[in-house]
Amino acid sequence: MKSLKMLLSLLLIGLCADLAVAQTMETRDMEHRIDLLLHQMTLEEKVGQLVQYNYGDVKNPEQLVRRGRIGSFLNPPADAGEVNDLQKIAVEGSRLGIPLILGFDVIHGYKTIFPIPLAEAAAWDPELSEQAARIAATEATAEGIRWTFAPMVDIARDARWGRIAEGAGEDPFLGSALAQARVRGFQGEDLSDPQSVAACLKHYVAYGAAEEGRDYNSVDISTRTLREVYLPPFHAGVEAGAVTLMSAFNDLNGTPASANWFTLTKVLRQEWGFQGFVVSDWNSVGELLNHGVAGTPAEAGAKAITAGVDMDMVSGIYADHLVELVRNGTIPVSVVVRAVRRVLRVKYALNLFDNPYTDTRRAGREILNPEHVNFARKAGTESIVLLKNERHLLPLDKSVGSLAVIGPLADSPYDMLGSWHARGNPKDAVTVLSGIQHTVSPDTKIRYARGCPITGDSTAGIAEAVDAAAVSDVALLVVGEGADMSGEAGSRAHIDLPGVQEQLVRAVVNTGTPVVLMLVNGRPLALPWEAEHVPAILETWQLGIQHGNAVADVVFGDHNPSGKLPVTFPRATGQEPLYYNHERTGRPPQAENKFSSKFIDIPIGPQYPFGYGLSYTTFKYSNLQLDQSSIGPGGTLTVQADVTNTGDRPGEEIAQLYIQDVVASLSPPVKELQGFSKISLKPGETRTVTFTLGPKNLGMYNQEMKDVVEPGEFKVWVGPNSTAGLEGAFQVVRR
Ligand code: NOJ
Repeated sequence: MKSLKMLLSLLLIGLCADLAVAQTMETRDMEHRIDLLLHQMTLEEKVGQLVQYNYGDVKNPEQLVRRGRIGSFLNPPADAGEVNDLQKIAVEGSRLGIPLILGFDVIHGYKTIFPIPLAEAAAWDPELSEQAARIAATEATAEGIRWTFAPMVDIARDARWGRIAEGAGEDPFLGSALAQARVRGFQGEDLSDPQSVAACLKHYVAYGAAEEGRDYNSVDISTRTLREVYLPPFHAGVEAGAVTLMSAFNDLNGTPASANWFTLTKVLRQEWGFQGFVVSDWNSVGELLNHGVAGTPAEAGAKAITAGVDMDMVSGIYADHLVELVRNGTIPVSVVVRAVRRVLRVKYALNLFDNPYTDTRRAGREILNPEHVNFARKAGTESIVLLKNERHLLPLDKSVGSLAVIGPLADSPYDMLGSWHARGNPKDAVTVLSGIQHTVSPDTKIRYARGCPITGDSTAGIAEAVDAAAVSDVALLVVGEGADMSGEAGSRAHIDLPGVQEQLVRAVVNTGTPVVLMLVNGRPLALPWEAEHVPAILETWQLGIQHGNAVADVVFGDHNPSGKLPVTFPRATGQEPLYYNHERTGRPPQAENKFSSKFIDIPIGPQYPFGYGLSYTTFKYSNLQLDQSSIGPGGTLTVQADVTNTGDRPGEEIAQLYIQDVVASLSPPVKELQGFSKISLKPGETRTVTFTLGPKNLGMYNQEMKDVVEPGEFKVWVGPNSTAGLEGAFQVVRR
């Protein structure tokens, strides 16, 4: 009796504490309904809400649902009717009728597959990313999915790490803008809209800083780097209203992400006021044993839920141990209640209690509809980056006499989809070969030769490719990585062209026929030979189902490329991790000085810098103006520059603003992106780009981990990439 009273008071304390903050986020009515429900729930039913299993791995899912022992499945059936049947058991067949939340990895499209997120980031276009996410949400919800494990907002500075493909690249500013856009797109104006999915910011946190770029590996970074680089996109996503987060696999300075009170509770809840719930990554609660921070599954469960992991993805540890952990007093029931409340809030916000079912007619109308497919083509064209274009080889004329289309990725539909292609189907994917065939004049002779496999050492097809190139006007070489060579568990120790593809490239270039190299890949590649010897290079990434059409639009000039790299391209794998916003060494690289920070076997710097990308036209920057020469630490200033299209075709330019804190209490980065603006310009047209800089842009974490603007000089650049631009300066002065 005594212990029951104690439990009840703990429960009340837990409820009150959480209720106080919750009322700012959700309606009192919802909190009231949750209270009523919580009071009716047995401990077993409460724990059930914190359990998630993979649908296909459960022997008798109906029984679990009926008994209220599960709150969520991931990877449910791909059919709205079947999902409704499952939901019906929860809503009409379980004691309390609590609906399920069904989750799926809708990362860059559901069936209409868009460019991989890294590619789409190259468009530097939050509106475009928002729209792509909105379409993905529309399609996924048409089959009953109301929760996506996206956006992935991990900053990735190491191109060896395959999951660099899934995020927005290396920069926290661009990453934050796109995180917010994607959250807005997935969740829409209102989560209760049947076409909205709950977003899940992942993988919290610093997963991208895995040592060696090896997936699932340890992360050891300073708290400063955590706050300056890895946390901002998560914070931005929370500010945009994301209702769930996923705790990562990695340990951070010795504490596994799924047992990290500092990140999950101190930062996320206490500093940012996050009200939604946190789901673990796949078995990451179970992996606390492998990490060596828990000796038993029960201990792992206790650590995870106490740190702030509310829902356990697939490990089964919450299901098997939480009830006992509460009963034996290891964890207070308030901790469980708190987690359940967070889960129920999201279910309410999605309106699952009042509208749990999906209209089964929607899928036929909404999935892969022409509007969505056209948008995938547009997103594809905006994501392509022109890396090199000697003597204006591109764009090609549609009535070119003959073309050789060569390479293992020229006609490989599956590989256009990239990793995590949800329910994308290769049969819906347009390859480069077919995109070109549809675009050129009927008189153009096209010779296709695969040349070699993506991986493996067979050179048998190279001779045929060389023959095709030798007798054609232009050779289009489509090389790179297969869809499964990046993404999860896709780390590579050598980020060059796999297999014998470089041999193929060299052989084709040696024919003397002009070559356009088209890279298909999920990460930056190190291609020094190609960068020097191939006249034209397009970074086409993996653009999804409209890959081939988007590429053809750019190759034949229907679309003038405007993409800019959201990641640095190295000259050699050994430079990784390589990123533009690094701190300042005491010995900056100098060509003539051996004892400066550089390699002795490669030239200084990246192959292609962050923010880089060419156009078929040219742009000139002029007239940099700052409206003030000094501001106080809390002040703002405006920076403007004129951009002129100096070429002869219309084009889009992504103007970028970088700053440098010249002298600070901790060594500041050489440059930091703090603004960008994508503008369209007709030939000869000039437009002014305007940026505002304030404390959010100028602040830094000092030794005490306080976000402060330190007085002193700041440099500012406005230009076409991270290594060029007009330079100005201003002072921050104590007032
Ligand atoms: C593991 C991956 O790390 C994560 O990104 C994904 O969302 C889950 N599996 C669920 O599929």
